[in-house]
Amino acid sequence: MKIVGMVGWRGMVGSVLMDRMRQEGDFAGQETRFFSTSQAGQLGPDVGSGSKPLSDAYDIHSLAESEIIVTCQGGDYTNRVHPQLRDAGWDGLWIDAASSLRMDDSALIVLDPVNRDVIDRGLDQGIKNFTGGNCTVSLMLMGLDGLFQQNWVEWVSTMTYQSASGAGAKNMIELVNQMGELGGCNSGQAALELERAVSEKLRSTEFPIENFGAPLAGSLIPWIDRCMDNGQTREEWKGQVESNKILATGQTIPVDGQCVRIGAMRCHSQAITIKLTKNVGLAEIEQVIDSANQWVRVVPNHKEATCAELTPTMVSGSMQIPVGRIRKMTLGPEYLTCFTVGDQLLWGAAEPLRRMLRIALGQL
Ligand code: HSE
Repeated sequence: MKIVGMVGWRGMVGSVLMDRMRQEGDFAGQETRFFSTSQAGQLGPDVGSGSKPLSDAYDIHSLAESEIIVTCQGGDYTNRVHPQLRDAGWDGLWIDAASSLRMDDSALIVLDPVNRDVIDRGLDQGIKNFTGGNCTVSLMLMGLDGLFQQNWVEWVSTMTYQSASGAGAKNMIELVNQMGELGGCNSGQAALELERAVSEKLRSTEFPIENFGAPLAGSLIPWIDRCMDNGQTREEWKGQVESNKILATGQTIPVDGQCVRIGAMRCHSQAITIKLTKNVGLAEIEQVIDSANQWVRVVPNHKEATCAELTPTMVSGSMQIPVGRIRKMTLGPEYLTCFTVGDQLLWGAAEPLRRMLRIALGQL
């Protein structure tokens, strides 16, 4: 059995990955060694063959005994350890949740329901570094998979509604703390008085904004990540470069929009405008979207289905990628709009890595 080293398995993405691997019985197909950056020597998790002491995640020699390393430890860890391992001659597969290596020529971005052919080709050609994509990019591509397969997409503009989880575990807790603060404003007063009390609370210097830098509960933040030279945020910049890298397009498909943080817990939503390469009928479009992969599902464009099935509330914790609100826009017959929701921690982060590991082990 191949030796798989796991690093960063205790953080948020790592925990979701561990849960999915347990659910799918993945640990039976590999010899797992757990590493830690801070608790080497303590007992690791029992994934079926007893607990063993954790190895030091900075010990290059011990890491190099793994044939595959899966890390959710973050970009700083990758930047520090990956070059040392390669310099030491390690030629195993590196599967990474962080963005550090994503746009590097040595790495592929993995999302196998969409780019299995690219992954297989990469493995054949000796590519050794594989990273998960940005969550909004992966979720958008899962939803629009069929349209891309048909080459019906001339360009895409996506306006995102991104959950607190994308910013990290502390941010999720801060969001709920903010909500609690606002709940405390309600003393049975009339709506406008309540609104005044809420706005005062939101603007107070005591309001907990340490992690987000601004109130999110009862508000939103139209800025994610740092600024690029052209006025895009880095989150917006990733849309085009990562989508095209994942799809291995010959000619770049433009992707741009605005990325916004909203007060959902762990699902990213996107309102999407697509310029089609030709005027295709709506029924055919829906059929193509719905049948592209086993997780995407068209939600009929009416109120009951939309409110019941196309919300972060319903999608949270699920592998489903619902796509709804599908219609031609009044802008013209080649302009399509839709809305999609996906779990940021599952298809947006952990699942593509879990599946890449199975592919690397010849089990998928
Ligand atoms: N950058 C994303 C976000 C999460 O802030 O929501 C990671 O892909």
